[in-house]
Amino acid sequence: MKKIYLIGIGPGNPDYLTVQAINAMKEVDVFFILEKGRRKGFKDFTEIREEILERYLDRGTYRLVSAEIPERKKGGDSYREGVRSWRRQKAEVITGLIKDKMKDGEIAALLIWGDPSLYDGHLEILQDILKEGRVSFEYKVIPGITSVQVLAARHKIPLTHIGESVVITTGRRLERYRPAEIKNAIVLLDPDSRFDCFKNSNMDIYWGGYLGTGDEILFSGKLRDVVEDLKEIRSEARKRKGWIMDTYILRRSEDPETNG
Ligand SMILES: C[S@@+](CC[C@H](N)C(=O)[O-])C[C@H]1O[C@@H](n2cnc3c(N)ncnc32)[C@H](O)[C@@H]1O
Repeated sequence: MKKIYLIGIGPGNPDYLTVQAINAMKEVDVFFILEKGRRKGFKDFTEIREEILERYLDRGTYRLVSAEIPERKKGGDSYREGVRSWRRQKAEVITGLIKDKMKDGEIAALLIWGDPSLYDGHLEILQDILKEGRVSFEYKVIPGITSVQVLAARHKIPLTHIGESVVITTGRRLERYRPAEIKNAIVLLDPDSRFDCFKNSNMDIYWGGYLGTGDEILFSGKLRDVVEDLKEIRSEARKRKGWIMDTYILRRSEDPETNG
């Protein structure tokens, strides 16, 4: 039987790999590297994976197979349908790799950014491939450190104070919340600075760009006071690097007088 490992590698620094992830990597015969073209920026994600393999494994003990995956088409279909159709295309590529690039009894791995359970489609893609039945395999998930954990650690804050709850959401869904519903919100996947819609509420923001990498930027403050500065920081960083990867926590302030 073929085996596939989904190995969480943390969000961008080879130091974030767990001992469990390193041990799992040592068992792997072939690593599938999925590349979204060689557009500026995306190279960095491939390079970090290659650096991880070189750091933790002996050369010649594994094979590397790269495959081009399409970029998700934006616009047109609804967001959900767009993502579903993109996942089907990825499933097709991964099915081909499992079929043609590994032998029975071998272990293949996908190195997953952060943790495979957080806004990552590969787990569901593997489950869909199995349902489809063109290839069969066993699979295992190795957890990784998420961008959320790194953000909290770098700002030295807990995600919740005593007895509070926390919402994890995307920029796209953030504006559906009323400020009063949110005590702590962790926001990923926000290319459009949607924190802007909370600027009249009494919130603090803890923001991190390119966390864990040499380009890391940390920024925090009272949202209403820093909102324009943060937009500027994001747009400058995006211009400089060609892409941006950022996460933030919005936290309703303790000050009862100004709470909105
Ligand atoms: C598709 S999700 C993947 C999340 C990942 N599975 C994790 O566990 O962190 C991508 C989003 O994660 C966040 N992210 C991932 N790596 C990051 C990093 N190094 N710095 C800041 N945010 C990051 C950003 O919000 C980005 O838009």
